[in-house]
Amino acid sequence: MRMLSVALAAGMVMGWGVAGALAGTSSSLMDISTDGTLLACTNRDSGTVTLVDLKTHKKRHEVRLGTKPEGVTFLGDSHRLAAAIYGDDKVTFIDGDSGKVDGSVDVFDEPYGIVSSPDGSRVFVTLDYPGEIVEIDAGSRKVLRSFPAGKFVRGLAISKDGGRLYATEYYTSTVKVFDAADGKLVDESKGREVDNLCRQIVLHPTRPKAYIPHIRSRITAARGEGSIFPYLTAVDLRTEKESRRNRIPMDSFLGAVVTANPWEVAVSPDGKQLYIVFAGTDDMFACNVLDDDFREVQRRDFLRTGRNPRAVKVSPDNKTFYVYNALDFQVVAYDTKSLSPTHEITVTDNPLTDEVLLGKVLFYSANMPMSGRRWISCSSCHPDGEPDGRTWQNPEGKRNTQSLAGMSWTHPIHWSADRDEVQDFEHTIRGPLMQGRGLIRGKVMDSLGKPNSGLSDALDAIAAYCNSHKVPLSPHSKNGLSESAKRGRELFFSKETKCAECHKGPYFCDSVPDGKFVMHDVGTGADDPTEKMGTKYDTPTLLGVYRTASYLHHGTAATLEEVLTTRNKNDRHGKTSQLSKEQVSDLVEFLKALPYEDSESAATAAGMKKVVK
Ligand code: HEC
Ligand code: HEC
Repeated sequence: MRMLSVALAAGMVMGWGVAGALAGTSSSLMDISTDGTLLACTNRDSGTVTLVDLKTHKKRHEVRLGTKPEGVTFLGDSHRLAAAIYGDDKVTFIDGDSGKVDGSVDVFDEPYGIVSSPDGSRVFVTLDYPGEIVEIDAGSRKVLRSFPAGKFVRGLAISKDGGRLYATEYYTSTVKVFDAADGKLVDESKGREVDNLCRQIVLHPTRPKAYIPHIRSRITAARGEGSIFPYLTAVDLRTEKESRRNRIPMDSFLGAVVTANPWEVAVSPDGKQLYIVFAGTDDMFACNVLDDDFREVQRRDFLRTGRNPRAVKVSPDNKTFYVYNALDFQVVAYDTKSLSPTHEITVTDNPLTDEVLLGKVLFYSANMPMSGRRWISCSSCHPDGEPDGRTWQNPEGKRNTQSLAGMSWTHPIHWSADRDEVQDFEHTIRGPLMQGRGLIRGKVMDSLGKPNSGLSDALDAIAAYCNSHKVPLSPHSKNGLSESAKRGRELFFSKETKCAECHKGPYFCDSVPDGKFVMHDVGTGADDPTEKMGTKYDTPTLLGVYRTASYLHHGTAATLEEVLTTRNKNDRHGKTSQLSKEQVSDLVEFLKALPYEDSESAATAAGMKKVVK
């Protein structure tokens, strides 16, 4: 640690100490060209990037990119740009003037944040999984190198001189600082255990500060007023400072006004203003930045936005800021002085069915009728249908948050199969966790009783949205199964291990819609003294387990190896005690390669039926 500090001090002299040297560009779903004439935003649901002419405030081009584009950046001072296509594992270059795609580069998996070097010659990209930063030559479009950057790395910013990269870990809010020249870690500011969903980092142009929006997930309190909290954290980049982080609660910033799910922050070019948008409560704060290490920011105004604001950016001339309302498919321009909206630009057409859109709006909403206290939305724990990386202490026992991917094929739901349709989440909405008004008028049926489906269009829409998540192919099987994974497959399907007796079919689970209602005691239930639902569990799908540690209903297995070894001492969960170390690692390689084929087509071909809503 001491060694690191020395290196840090050297870094400071080189970069951070100098006023102005900190200004950087931070990854966002939106970017504005340096000359202030073009705005680009990625549209996750449409799979496109839209270019808006800022002189006329008219949409100029909408360019098809692929599945789930995330970060977008202009290259240096140019009108060329690059976008991270999360779902297709590629970085695509676009000419902003002509609206033409200008080549793309494949990366290993899940590119998320993206920034350009000051001269636009290179781009740096975070890979959410497996947690790397990749450097790409923007001219030759070749990957120059990649280096490990943490776990689930999303946010990315680059210093104005291009010398430093700042990355955030999504599930911990840890900030890591790298030397852009050699990829060496030069500094680190750790988050607290409760810090979560930190997907962006913004540098102040002159103060030695970075701002990160995130939530806190307090897993011990499954109650609306005590589980999820919104934060803006100011990270002090001067390494001699003992207290590195100043956490500013965004639910007590303005009296009793509670906000939820801070998603992005922007700082004005002069460093005097800060804007933060809340994707759960559909509102934002405009703040003054204070030259004060204790208060940091002061509220200027509280503004309502459109639905699900996910990005905010300030124009280079500091006259306008732009808010991207993802579920209105609109960018709204505001005057920075009066804070009044001046233009609304529709950037893409709604690509979803009306029903899925309604479900998604409600799933992301921390307002009534979903949530009574405004701290929490379904998406606070299931962001974009992905897990929140947490094991919650629920009244029924410890429960690891599941991914929603593929769940339309694996009903019943929940680890204890205590729900047979998403509509049963009416109980969650009305219960102590969300304290919402709920969506059904009249009597709500018991979870495993008569159906709750068909009682409310809005609730059916939430089910349609939840069931719309597909499982992406594993990056570990891109080049087919490795030799080790092939040996693992033999073991998996062998009579000896018995894995496929329960993890069977295209979704590797025996609990399927319209199937028999089966649960198994695999010896894991006694580990948790708070367990109230018995020791039998619903067989989980194994698709996508390469990225969903920790494992088992109580999240006690940190790795897949542990599931098969230390957590299966008595061979009650398949027979694994006879396996050699190599065999265990072969089996793990196989699990990591799932899915290696399109499970949905395989399931359809096998005559299986999925739940649509
Ligand atoms: C505080 C965090 C939290 C919130 C808020 C939350 N969930 Fe969950 N969700 C979880 C956890 C933890 C599990 C696993 C629980 C279990 O299995 O008993 C889960 C499981 C699920 C599952 C089952 C997935 C499967 O494959 O079995 C669905 C569907 C789901 N949640 C939907 C919702 C909806 C809809 C909302 C909003 C009404 C919501 N959740 C709100 C944490 C949360
Ligand atoms: C008797 C049925 C059964 C057999 C046999 C079985 N499993 Fe499981 N598996 C389950 C159940 C049930 C769970 C959930 C247990 C829990 O959460 O406590 C589970 C959980 C898992 C998980 C954790 C998934 C997650 O998302 O957390 C993995 C990985 C897994 N099994 C792999 C295997 C492998 C590999 C084998 C063969 C060695 C195997 N299982 C054999 C029923 C079975």
